[in-house]
Amino acid sequence: MRSNHPWLYMQLLISTVCCIYGREEKLLFSTEYTVKEIDLDTGVVKDLANHSTIVYSIAYDVKERYVYIPRFYEAVIDRFPYPNDQTVNFEIVVSTNYPYYVAFDSGNSHLYWTGYASGKIMRCNSNGSDLTTIVDISSIPMALTLDTHTRWIYYSKASSNALLRVTFDGKEKQVVLNLTSQLIDIEVDFVDKRIYWMEYYTGDFKSALYNGSDVKTVVSTNVKFNNREIDIGNEYVFYTSYNNILKVHKSSGQIPTVVHTESILIYGLLFYKQEDRNILCSVEKWIYFGEELSNRQIYRLTFAGKELTVMIQLKKQTTCVFGIGNTNY
Ligand SMILES: *[C@@H]1O[C@H](CO)[C@@H](O)[C@H](O)[C@H]1NC(C)=O
Ligand SMILES: *[C@@H]1O[C@H](CO)[C@@H](O)[C@H](O)[C@H]1NC(C)=O
Ligand SMILES: *[C@@H]1O[C@H](CO)[C@@H](O)[C@H](O)[C@H]1NC(C)=O
Ligand SMILES: *[C@@H]1O[C@H](CO)[C@@H](O)[C@H](O)[C@H]1NC(C)=O
Repeated sequence: MRSNHPWLYMQLLISTVCCIYGREEKLLFSTEYTVKEIDLDTGVVKDLANHSTIVYSIAYDVKERYVYIPRFYEAVIDRFPYPNDQTVNFEIVVSTNYPYYVAFDSGNSHLYWTGYASGKIMRCNSNGSDLTTIVDISSIPMALTLDTHTRWIYYSKASSNALLRVTFDGKEKQVVLNLTSQLIDIEVDFVDKRIYWMEYYTGDFKSALYNGSDVKTVVSTNVKFNNREIDIGNEYVFYTSYNNILKVHKSSGQIPTVVHTESILIYGLLFYKQEDRNILCSVEKWIYFGEELSNRQIYRLTFAGKELTVMIQLKKQTTCVFGIGNTNY
């Protein structure tokens, strides 16, 4: 109903911005010269950084979002932010001789590593402070992985064919399993509550419960001395072998498939998963209105009435701004 009184016309416009889900799965891997990533959805391979020395393993801090790489002959463990669209700049975390394998405890922001020359498992804060020896192996310590749930560090050493573990304070050491080969890498799967490892001499990829019982062979790769790092991604396990990255389903008896091949040897491997997250998820509710006598403006007001914005200044006075569903009062 129109009259000569000042009037308001109003429209309730609910702008809904849909939720967009982002999910990314990538593999990071290292060769003698570079760290690269493979997008597991698209297969696109990208150089992340050149490090000009062997990097045997890769660790990730899920909380602060940094990749840690031990640069074996450079005697440093470096880190860089990841994901990262810019040029990667390394930041030195700690200087240490022949850093071999790395692992990261995001809950406490602690970096752990095995020292090939020192014979020790060491720890420091993510800024390099508070350098601590967890345990002196008196042999070459090799792979290590952190069971942050039940607080054991699983590791292996060059002088024995055993799966070993030590408490985070270094006070209690145990032999979990005596095996027939050195272990070149170990991972904990918190979903299945199992430990996975790669046997260096035999190429057997195996798993067991935390206490060492129920040993299963995931796959006998028959690759001797040339398999390296392993990682777990959902239902699959990934491993590096010569210049290849392969994946195989966790359940025993499946056939591995090649994910990627380089022209040179591949050492370190890290499965990276961007958890499902809402990149944009908002519902905005505004009340849009105009007022006949008040100067050709369209306003909008939030439902709570707290925010009033002049949307547009019109050249002419207008009675109907919105084409559909507007209501004049
Ligand atoms: C690494 O070095 C190669 C050869 O020098 C160069 O082509 C490449 O762009 C470098 N990659 C990065 C990420 O710096
Ligand atoms: C390094 O990190 C520790 C633990 O978070 C903190 O207490 C210390 O102040 C930091 N040191 C420097 C120099 O930032
Ligand atoms: C492993 O072997 C060592 C040395 O023979 C032995 O003392 C230990 O009991 C064995 N442990 C397991 C879990 O088999
Ligand atoms: C090992 O752990 C499993 C699962 O927790 C348990 O059922 C089994 O009895 C344990 N075996 C030994 C020898 O402790």
